[in-house]
Amino acid sequence: MDKIEITGGVRLHGEVTVSGAKNAVLPLMTAAILSSGENVIGNVPHLRDVMTMGKLLAHLGFGFHIEDNSILLLTKKLTSFDAPYDFVKTMRASVLVLGPLLARTGRAKVSLPGGCAIGARPINLHIMGLEKMGAKITLSEGYIEAKARRLRGATVYFDMPTVTGTENLMMAATLADGTTVLENAACEPEVTDLADALISMGADIQGAGTSVIKINGVAGLEPLNYAAIPDRIETATFIAAAAVTKGDVKINKCRPEHLDAVINKMQEAGVKIKQKTGKLMVRGAERLSAVDIKTVPYPGFPTDMQAQFMTMMSIADGTSLITENIFENRFMHVAELRRMGADIKVEGSTATVKGVGSLKGAPVMATDLRASASLVVAGLAAEGTTVIDRVYHLDRGYEKIEEKLEKLGARIRRVK
Ligand code: EPU
Repeated sequence: MDKIEITGGVRLHGEVTVSGAKNAVLPLMTAAILSSGENVIGNVPHLRDVMTMGKLLAHLGFGFHIEDNSILLLTKKLTSFDAPYDFVKTMRASVLVLGPLLARTGRAKVSLPGGCAIGARPINLHIMGLEKMGAKITLSEGYIEAKARRLRGATVYFDMPTVTGTENLMMAATLADGTTVLENAACEPEVTDLADALISMGADIQGAGTSVIKINGVAGLEPLNYAAIPDRIETATFIAAAAVTKGDVKINKCRPEHLDAVINKMQEAGVKIKQKTGKLMVRGAERLSAVDIKTVPYPGFPTDMQAQFMTMMSIADGTSLITENIFENRFMHVAELRRMGADIKVEGSTATVKGVGSLKGAPVMATDLRASASLVVAGLAAEGTTVIDRVYHLDRGYEKIEEKLEKLGARIRRVK
């Protein structure tokens, strides 16, 4: 199993280019199920999750080819309509085939995801929405089986905004009979990106990016030819890396407008950030100041940046309160950061982080994707050497992270 070794204390300096967003590309890949033909997706990062989704689509009978940063999906022939447990247990986003498969074929069988490292993560809201649209859903032997001759438009209210839930239902509604209204929908940029892609395929969607999305069903969709948005969480992770190393980094090919909450909090903590179209110039402060954050759905502070921000706060001046409101178990990185000398106490959904002078390198273990990223940021800041085990988590969501950081001057290497 690969490990990443980092010798910290180097000021990051130079330019880095952000990859396409994993959480935009995965739904775009499943949107291709709605068409029959040659679909091309651009700005695709080479990541384990993208390959897993490709294998799942190949299991359904589709052609899947990845070259450079493009994917070709041939969706003429569909030979299967199930997402087996092996895929879903490796990647929860596999559940995104449910809506499009049901809309295209009238049936879908998807393994029910179990709990995961960051929380229980049920999919009851996806199921509730599809049932409202007329699907008959049964649960047996760990699988959800959904059937509907043709889905029909409905008004669906989400008790809480769900990103993949909104995406699943939006895709299903594009081919439904009549109008679907999604209320309290997720507003994340990845949802808007999916809506833009579906519209380019011929779908009739209004309001994506707001909490009410209206979809008028159409008879069919054209194949997809679309490039995904840049990864806002990768961008923000580079801001954190520059911040903790007192670095001076230019981040290219990003979308600063997707990061208002993060940029605000970073600036409050003393990080100097200049924005230009598609670019960010980041300079770390000599000392970071403690700032409180609460994770909330977009446009609030993203849960996917909570761990990396906690690393920053662990070496800031003062005490910060970090409240995780989205997932009930997303503090797994705390124990690892403590092993590096951080002073963090957790009570319920709030972590109290007392800034310490510096972190010390240590062997640590990655527990999920963003926790791993927080440990990379910690390793860059720490005195001495940090060895991060189980980096396969990192490989799910960060393309060539060690190469990108090495170009910025970091002493980082992958140990096979
Ligand atoms: N929820 C329910 N019932 C549902 C669906 C969600 O109770 O049917 C709850 C969840 O348990 C959670 C909250 O609603 O408490 C929000 O979860 P959401 O459904 O929005 O999460 P998701 O769609 O499963 C996506 C991202 C995650 C990201 C979250 C929150 C993808 C593929 N995944 O997950 O990304 O953390 O939204 O923004 O888009 C990551 O990239 O590291 C990652 C975990």
